[in-house]
Parts: sequence; C-alpha cells; structure tokens
Amino acid sequence: MKPTRTSRAWMREHVNDVYVQRAKREGYRSRASFKLIEIDDRDRLLRPGAAVVDLGAAPGGWSQVARMRLGRHGSVHAIDILPMEPLPEVDFVQADFTSAAVRDALLASLPAGGADLVLSDLAPNMSGVELKDQARVMELAGYALEFALLTLKPEGSFLVKVFMGEDFDDFVRQMRASFAVVATRKPDASRGRSPEVYLLGRQPKPAAVEAARQAVVDEQENASLPEERD
Ligand SMILES: C[S@@+](CC[C@H](N)C(=O)[O-])C[C@H]1O[C@@H](n2cnc3c(N)ncnc32)[C@H](O)[C@@H]1O
Repeated sequence: MKPTRTSRAWMREHVNDVYVQRAKREGYRSRASFKLIEIDDRDRLLRPGAAVVDLGAAPGGWSQVARMRLGRHGSVHAIDILPMEPLPEVDFVQADFTSAAVRDALLASLPAGGADLVLSDLAPNMSGVELKDQARVMELAGYALEFALLTLKPEGSFLVKVFMGEDFDDFVRQMRASFAVVATRKPDASRGRSPEVYLLGRQPKPAAVEAARQAVVDEQENASLPEERD
C-alpha cells in the first residue's frame, strides 16, 4: 500500500522522537518504557520482590522496566492479544483480555497471595475515529479495573491508561469508589496532543473488592441457570 501523506508525517515524527531514539539506544522495546520509568520514579510502584501484572504488554517495554526494577525476586505476568518476543523471566500469554475465560485463567495463574501491582497500558488499534477509540480504551480500562480489584493485595496499586473525553469523569468516579487514593499522571513521554493520561489507584477499598467478587459469583450463578423458554 502506498504511504499516505499523514502516515509519512507520522513516521517522520516517530523517527525523530527523542524517546524513540532513547529507546533504541538503551535497548527498550518501545518508547512507552519511559512513561512507566517516569511514573515509577515518582510513585515507587515497582518494589523488589513484587508480583506485577502487565496488561496489554506487547512489544514489552513495560515488562522490561518491571523486570529490571523488581530485582532478582518477584514476578511479571504479561498478556497481550498480539504475539510478543519472549523476555527473560516474564510469563507471557497471548490472549484476548476481553474474554472472561482468559481473565479467569490469568487470575488463576497468579501467585496465591495475589498481585502487588496491576499495570494496564491496554489500547486498541486506533481507528482514527475519536469517539470509537475513546469508547474502546475506556471499555478495556473497565475490564482492567475489575481484574485489579479481584487480584490486588490490600496495599496494592493499579496504574491504568485512559483517554480524556467522554466516560473519563465516570471512570475517575469508579476509581475513587475503588481505591483509597487516586492520582492522575501525564508523563513527559506521553505525547502532549494525545488524549491519553494514566490513573493511579492505591489501596483497594474492601467494599469495592467485595462487590467485584460478588459480581463474579453472580455471573457464575447466572451462567449455570437453565435458559428461560417462552
Ligand atoms: C500501547 S500498547 C502497549 C505498549 C506496552 N506497554 C509497551 O511498553 O511495550 C497497547 C497494547 O494493548 C494490546 N491490546 C489491545 N486490546 C487487547 C485485548 N483485547 N487483549 C489483550 N491485549 C490487547 C495491544 O495489542 C497493544 O499491544
């Protein structure tokens, strides 16, 4: 396919981007690594020995940072719908996170005590249709929030990519109902014109955790009921 003027402009900007160049020089798989580095330098999320889940992990920039900062102990459990080149000591599964069966299997594969940190950089292939992309990112963030509540330890944290726009305020409300502390982060490595920001929730609220668990039980019960006939 012939490159369009917009795609050529994007490529030129991408190649000249300082974070793209740094990623190449420093051996990171994506410029996104610097977003997590910046957030972690400030918020100290990646503690040695932690169990970390990386949702939407490919090509692996965040998993690389997590693995490096956890030291020799701790674990990284990554998932993406796309394939990812293996990374040493990162458990990767290629699967669709929107599938309930996939989320159940991922939950079951985590250490028994649960996770210390759930990271979600989940984002669909951008269609360029703003409202559609916004809705899809927020839908993925919703699944990630529900998942985080089911696995996080009481002192655990959840970092999630969201888009400013419709549904954003609603999602912030959900985060506030779910965590004792909620903060917004827009790292320098996140392009200024991008609607993307990250929300950081710390210390899941017991009532929200209970509600998330109850929702799973209700779903399972509904699934086992015989279908109603007319
Ligand atoms: C912005 S990229 C993540 C970049 C990554 N954090 C890094 O540092 O390299 C978003 C990722 O979300 C993944 N994704 C989107 N929808 C998904 C889904 N339903 N299940 C699993 N992964 C999904 C995409 O395939 C993509 O790799």
